[in-house]
Amino acid sequence: ADGKGAAAAADGVPPGYVTPGGSRVRDTERRRGNGPVRQMSLLATPAPVRLGARTVNTWTYEGALTGPEIRVSAGDMLAVDFANDLPHATTVHWHGLTLRNDMDGVPGITQDAVAPGESFAYRFMTQRPGTYYYHPHVGVQQDRGLYGPLIIEDPREPLAYDREWVVVLDDWVDGVDGSDPDAILKELNHGMSSGHEMRAAAPEPKGPPRMLERSHSDLLGGEAGNVDYPLHLINGRTADDPETFAAAPGDRIRIRIINAGGDTAYRVALGGHTMTITHTDGHPVEHADTDTLLIGMSERYDVLVTAKDGVFPLTALAEGKKHLAQALLRTGGGAAPGPGARPRELDGKLVTAFDLDCGESARLPDREVDRRHQLVLTGSMRRFDWAINRKPYTSSQRYPVREGERVELVFRNHSPMWHPMHLHGHPFELTYGGARKDTVIVRPGHTVRVHLDADNPGLWMLHCHNVYHSESGMMTVLGYR
Ligand code: C2O
Ligand code: CU
Repeated sequence: ADGKGAAAAADGVPPGYVTPGGSRVRDTERRRGNGPVRQMSLLATPAPVRLGARTVNTWTYEGALTGPEIRVSAGDMLAVDFANDLPHATTVHWHGLTLRNDMDGVPGITQDAVAPGESFAYRFMTQRPGTYYYHPHVGVQQDRGLYGPLIIEDPREPLAYDREWVVVLDDWVDGVDGSDPDAILKELNHGMSSGHEMRAAAPEPKGPPRMLERSHSDLLGGEAGNVDYPLHLINGRTADDPETFAAAPGDRIRIRIINAGGDTAYRVALGGHTMTITHTDGHPVEHADTDTLLIGMSERYDVLVTAKDGVFPLTALAEGKKHLAQALLRTGGGAAPGPGARPRELDGKLVTAFDLDCGESARLPDREVDRRHQLVLTGSMRRFDWAINRKPYTSSQRYPVREGERVELVFRNHSPMWHPMHLHGHPFELTYGGARKDTVIVRPGHTVRVHLDADNPGLWMLHCHNVYHSESGMMTVLGYR
């Protein structure tokens, strides 16, 4: 069958459309995809999930933790028939993809939330190969276990490897001690029923702290997450019941690491091995060897390792905290390391996103900046009043851009915590010639500049990917006009 014709037939959306957020969007995708339609269904449903010795009742995709892996080839049209069996309205956001705006899964902005018992047909072309994931864009729902990997393969894969291992990290806050993410948000908000009410009552913060312009890999500290949760997961498994990935000594293994945690940055290492970083957030980088990775909420890294002979821990340590998650790589005999194993690579050489150079094919062409937006990240743990330019999110906020512009975003962190800042629909480049990414960690006192080309009309969320920060107000909208 002619893939193009099939794609057009399955896609009932007219070439121009208006989203609920009032954005008039031209369909820029139809001419690009030429792969087949990849049809699948996805159900969000409450389900019991086994976490080591205990079973918790939570919300899942398809009853599983993690949600099902979606794997297609770049150019395929993804057709996901989504059904909501949860007691709350929800959406699905395809994190990191450059897709048509009305399929981006943001309630009130790109679509109406999918009510309990209702369904929604997501239909879009997959454009760039890479490691992505999907999650809801409503409240802190993703922290209940609603997430799954989304892998877009490269039909002309330039890397050579024998095996592939998808590793999804998560911090577990739901159901373990009777708490749930919404309760945690309330607690962080000092018992107020919503962050917005609390912020209205709070006095204006005084002035920003003195700005520190520092080199990016200069570690300044600050807290990476709000809470040190006892339970951390790799592929839905606790460290005392780890997933074991089998390979042969000498195998080249591509590991795709996704941090789906709502509140935890991780330091990740594979005991006994050096990792070669090949991609971050789906984009190629000049290959770089490292002992450990620092991976903020929603960031992804692809690495290559050459397997040694034995049993090795893949460990994700909550950054600045003491709890960890673990999986095992087994290529030979020997006893498995215990659940608390801390490979020394965790304290070895650390290559951060700021040390990486953009891969040739992902580079933005040189040009002048047409428009610059300053985004001061504000708030404190005491008041839990996280915001951008001191304005907590409202759905009518717009940071304007025009199609065709080169845009610079300047993130200045005037707060004491880390903020992994994420933009929808437009991967940015870390200044200049740095990695192409959709999420960047901005540490306390740091300034980070990123560049992007405004080439995907619509309304696009720009927010901290600590879900407790975004939900308390550190979120806004980049809007075309
Ligand atoms: Cu992972 Cu606004 O998204
Ligand atoms: Cu934040």
